[in-house]
Amino acid sequence: MGTLSYIKNFIKDRDVAAITPSSSYLVKRVCRWINFDAPCTIVEYGPGDGVFSRYIARNMHPDSSLVLIENNDGFVEDLRSLEEQYEQVTVVHDRAENVQSIMDSLGLEAADYFLSGIPFSFLDDDIKDDLLQDTFDGLYDDGKFLVYQNYNHMEKPLRRHFKHVEKEYVLINIPPMFAYEARKQ
Ligand SMILES: C[S@@+](CC[C@H](N)C(=O)[O-])C[C@H]1O[C@@H](n2cnc3c(N)ncnc32)[C@H](O)[C@@H]1O
Repeated sequence: MGTLSYIKNFIKDRDVAAITPSSSYLVKRVCRWINFDAPCTIVEYGPGDGVFSRYIARNMHPDSSLVLIENNDGFVEDLRSLEEQYEQVTVVHDRAENVQSIMDSLGLEAADYFLSGIPFSFLDDDIKDDLLQDTFDGLYDDGKFLVYQNYNHMEKPLRRHFKHVEKEYVLINIPPMFAYEARKQ
């Protein structure tokens, strides 16, 4: 896993959009917005080889659940070992755009957190807007959408959908990332 796996998958699939996983620094900065002391449901879009997912699975409350929605075949294969290791983890081989039907099929009423590293800039505006609305609708009232992107193109669309948006520029990552905490309320 790691950089080699990213390069291999990136060559075949432009949606991978990175040749190396996020840094452990970025993972910790974004995950500090999650309350790991309480049981919760977390849905991750585009986990790649699972650099965020592993951190979350290790730190989350034992009664929490983590759903990983990944579209790339190679990464889905990598993520299966995480699913075997943690019974709270479910891997779904699908696109984030189908989140509503995925949650329905898993019997999930709502999530406390959505986390996303998918390249939103690759999505058409109407598809991006639908995904933001579905994510907003899929959250409990006190839920959050956590996003990281390599340039600041998500601030405006997030502010259109979510009540409070915090932004941080994280330099210790290749490339540096804009991280956002978007709160439903
Ligand atoms: C930039 S990588 C981030 C990977 C990992 N989360 C990290 O931080 O290193 C983007 C990931 O999103 C996945 N992806 C891209 N578009 C997607 C979509 N529409 N639905 C689900 N996964 C998607 C890619 O296959 C890739 O694993």
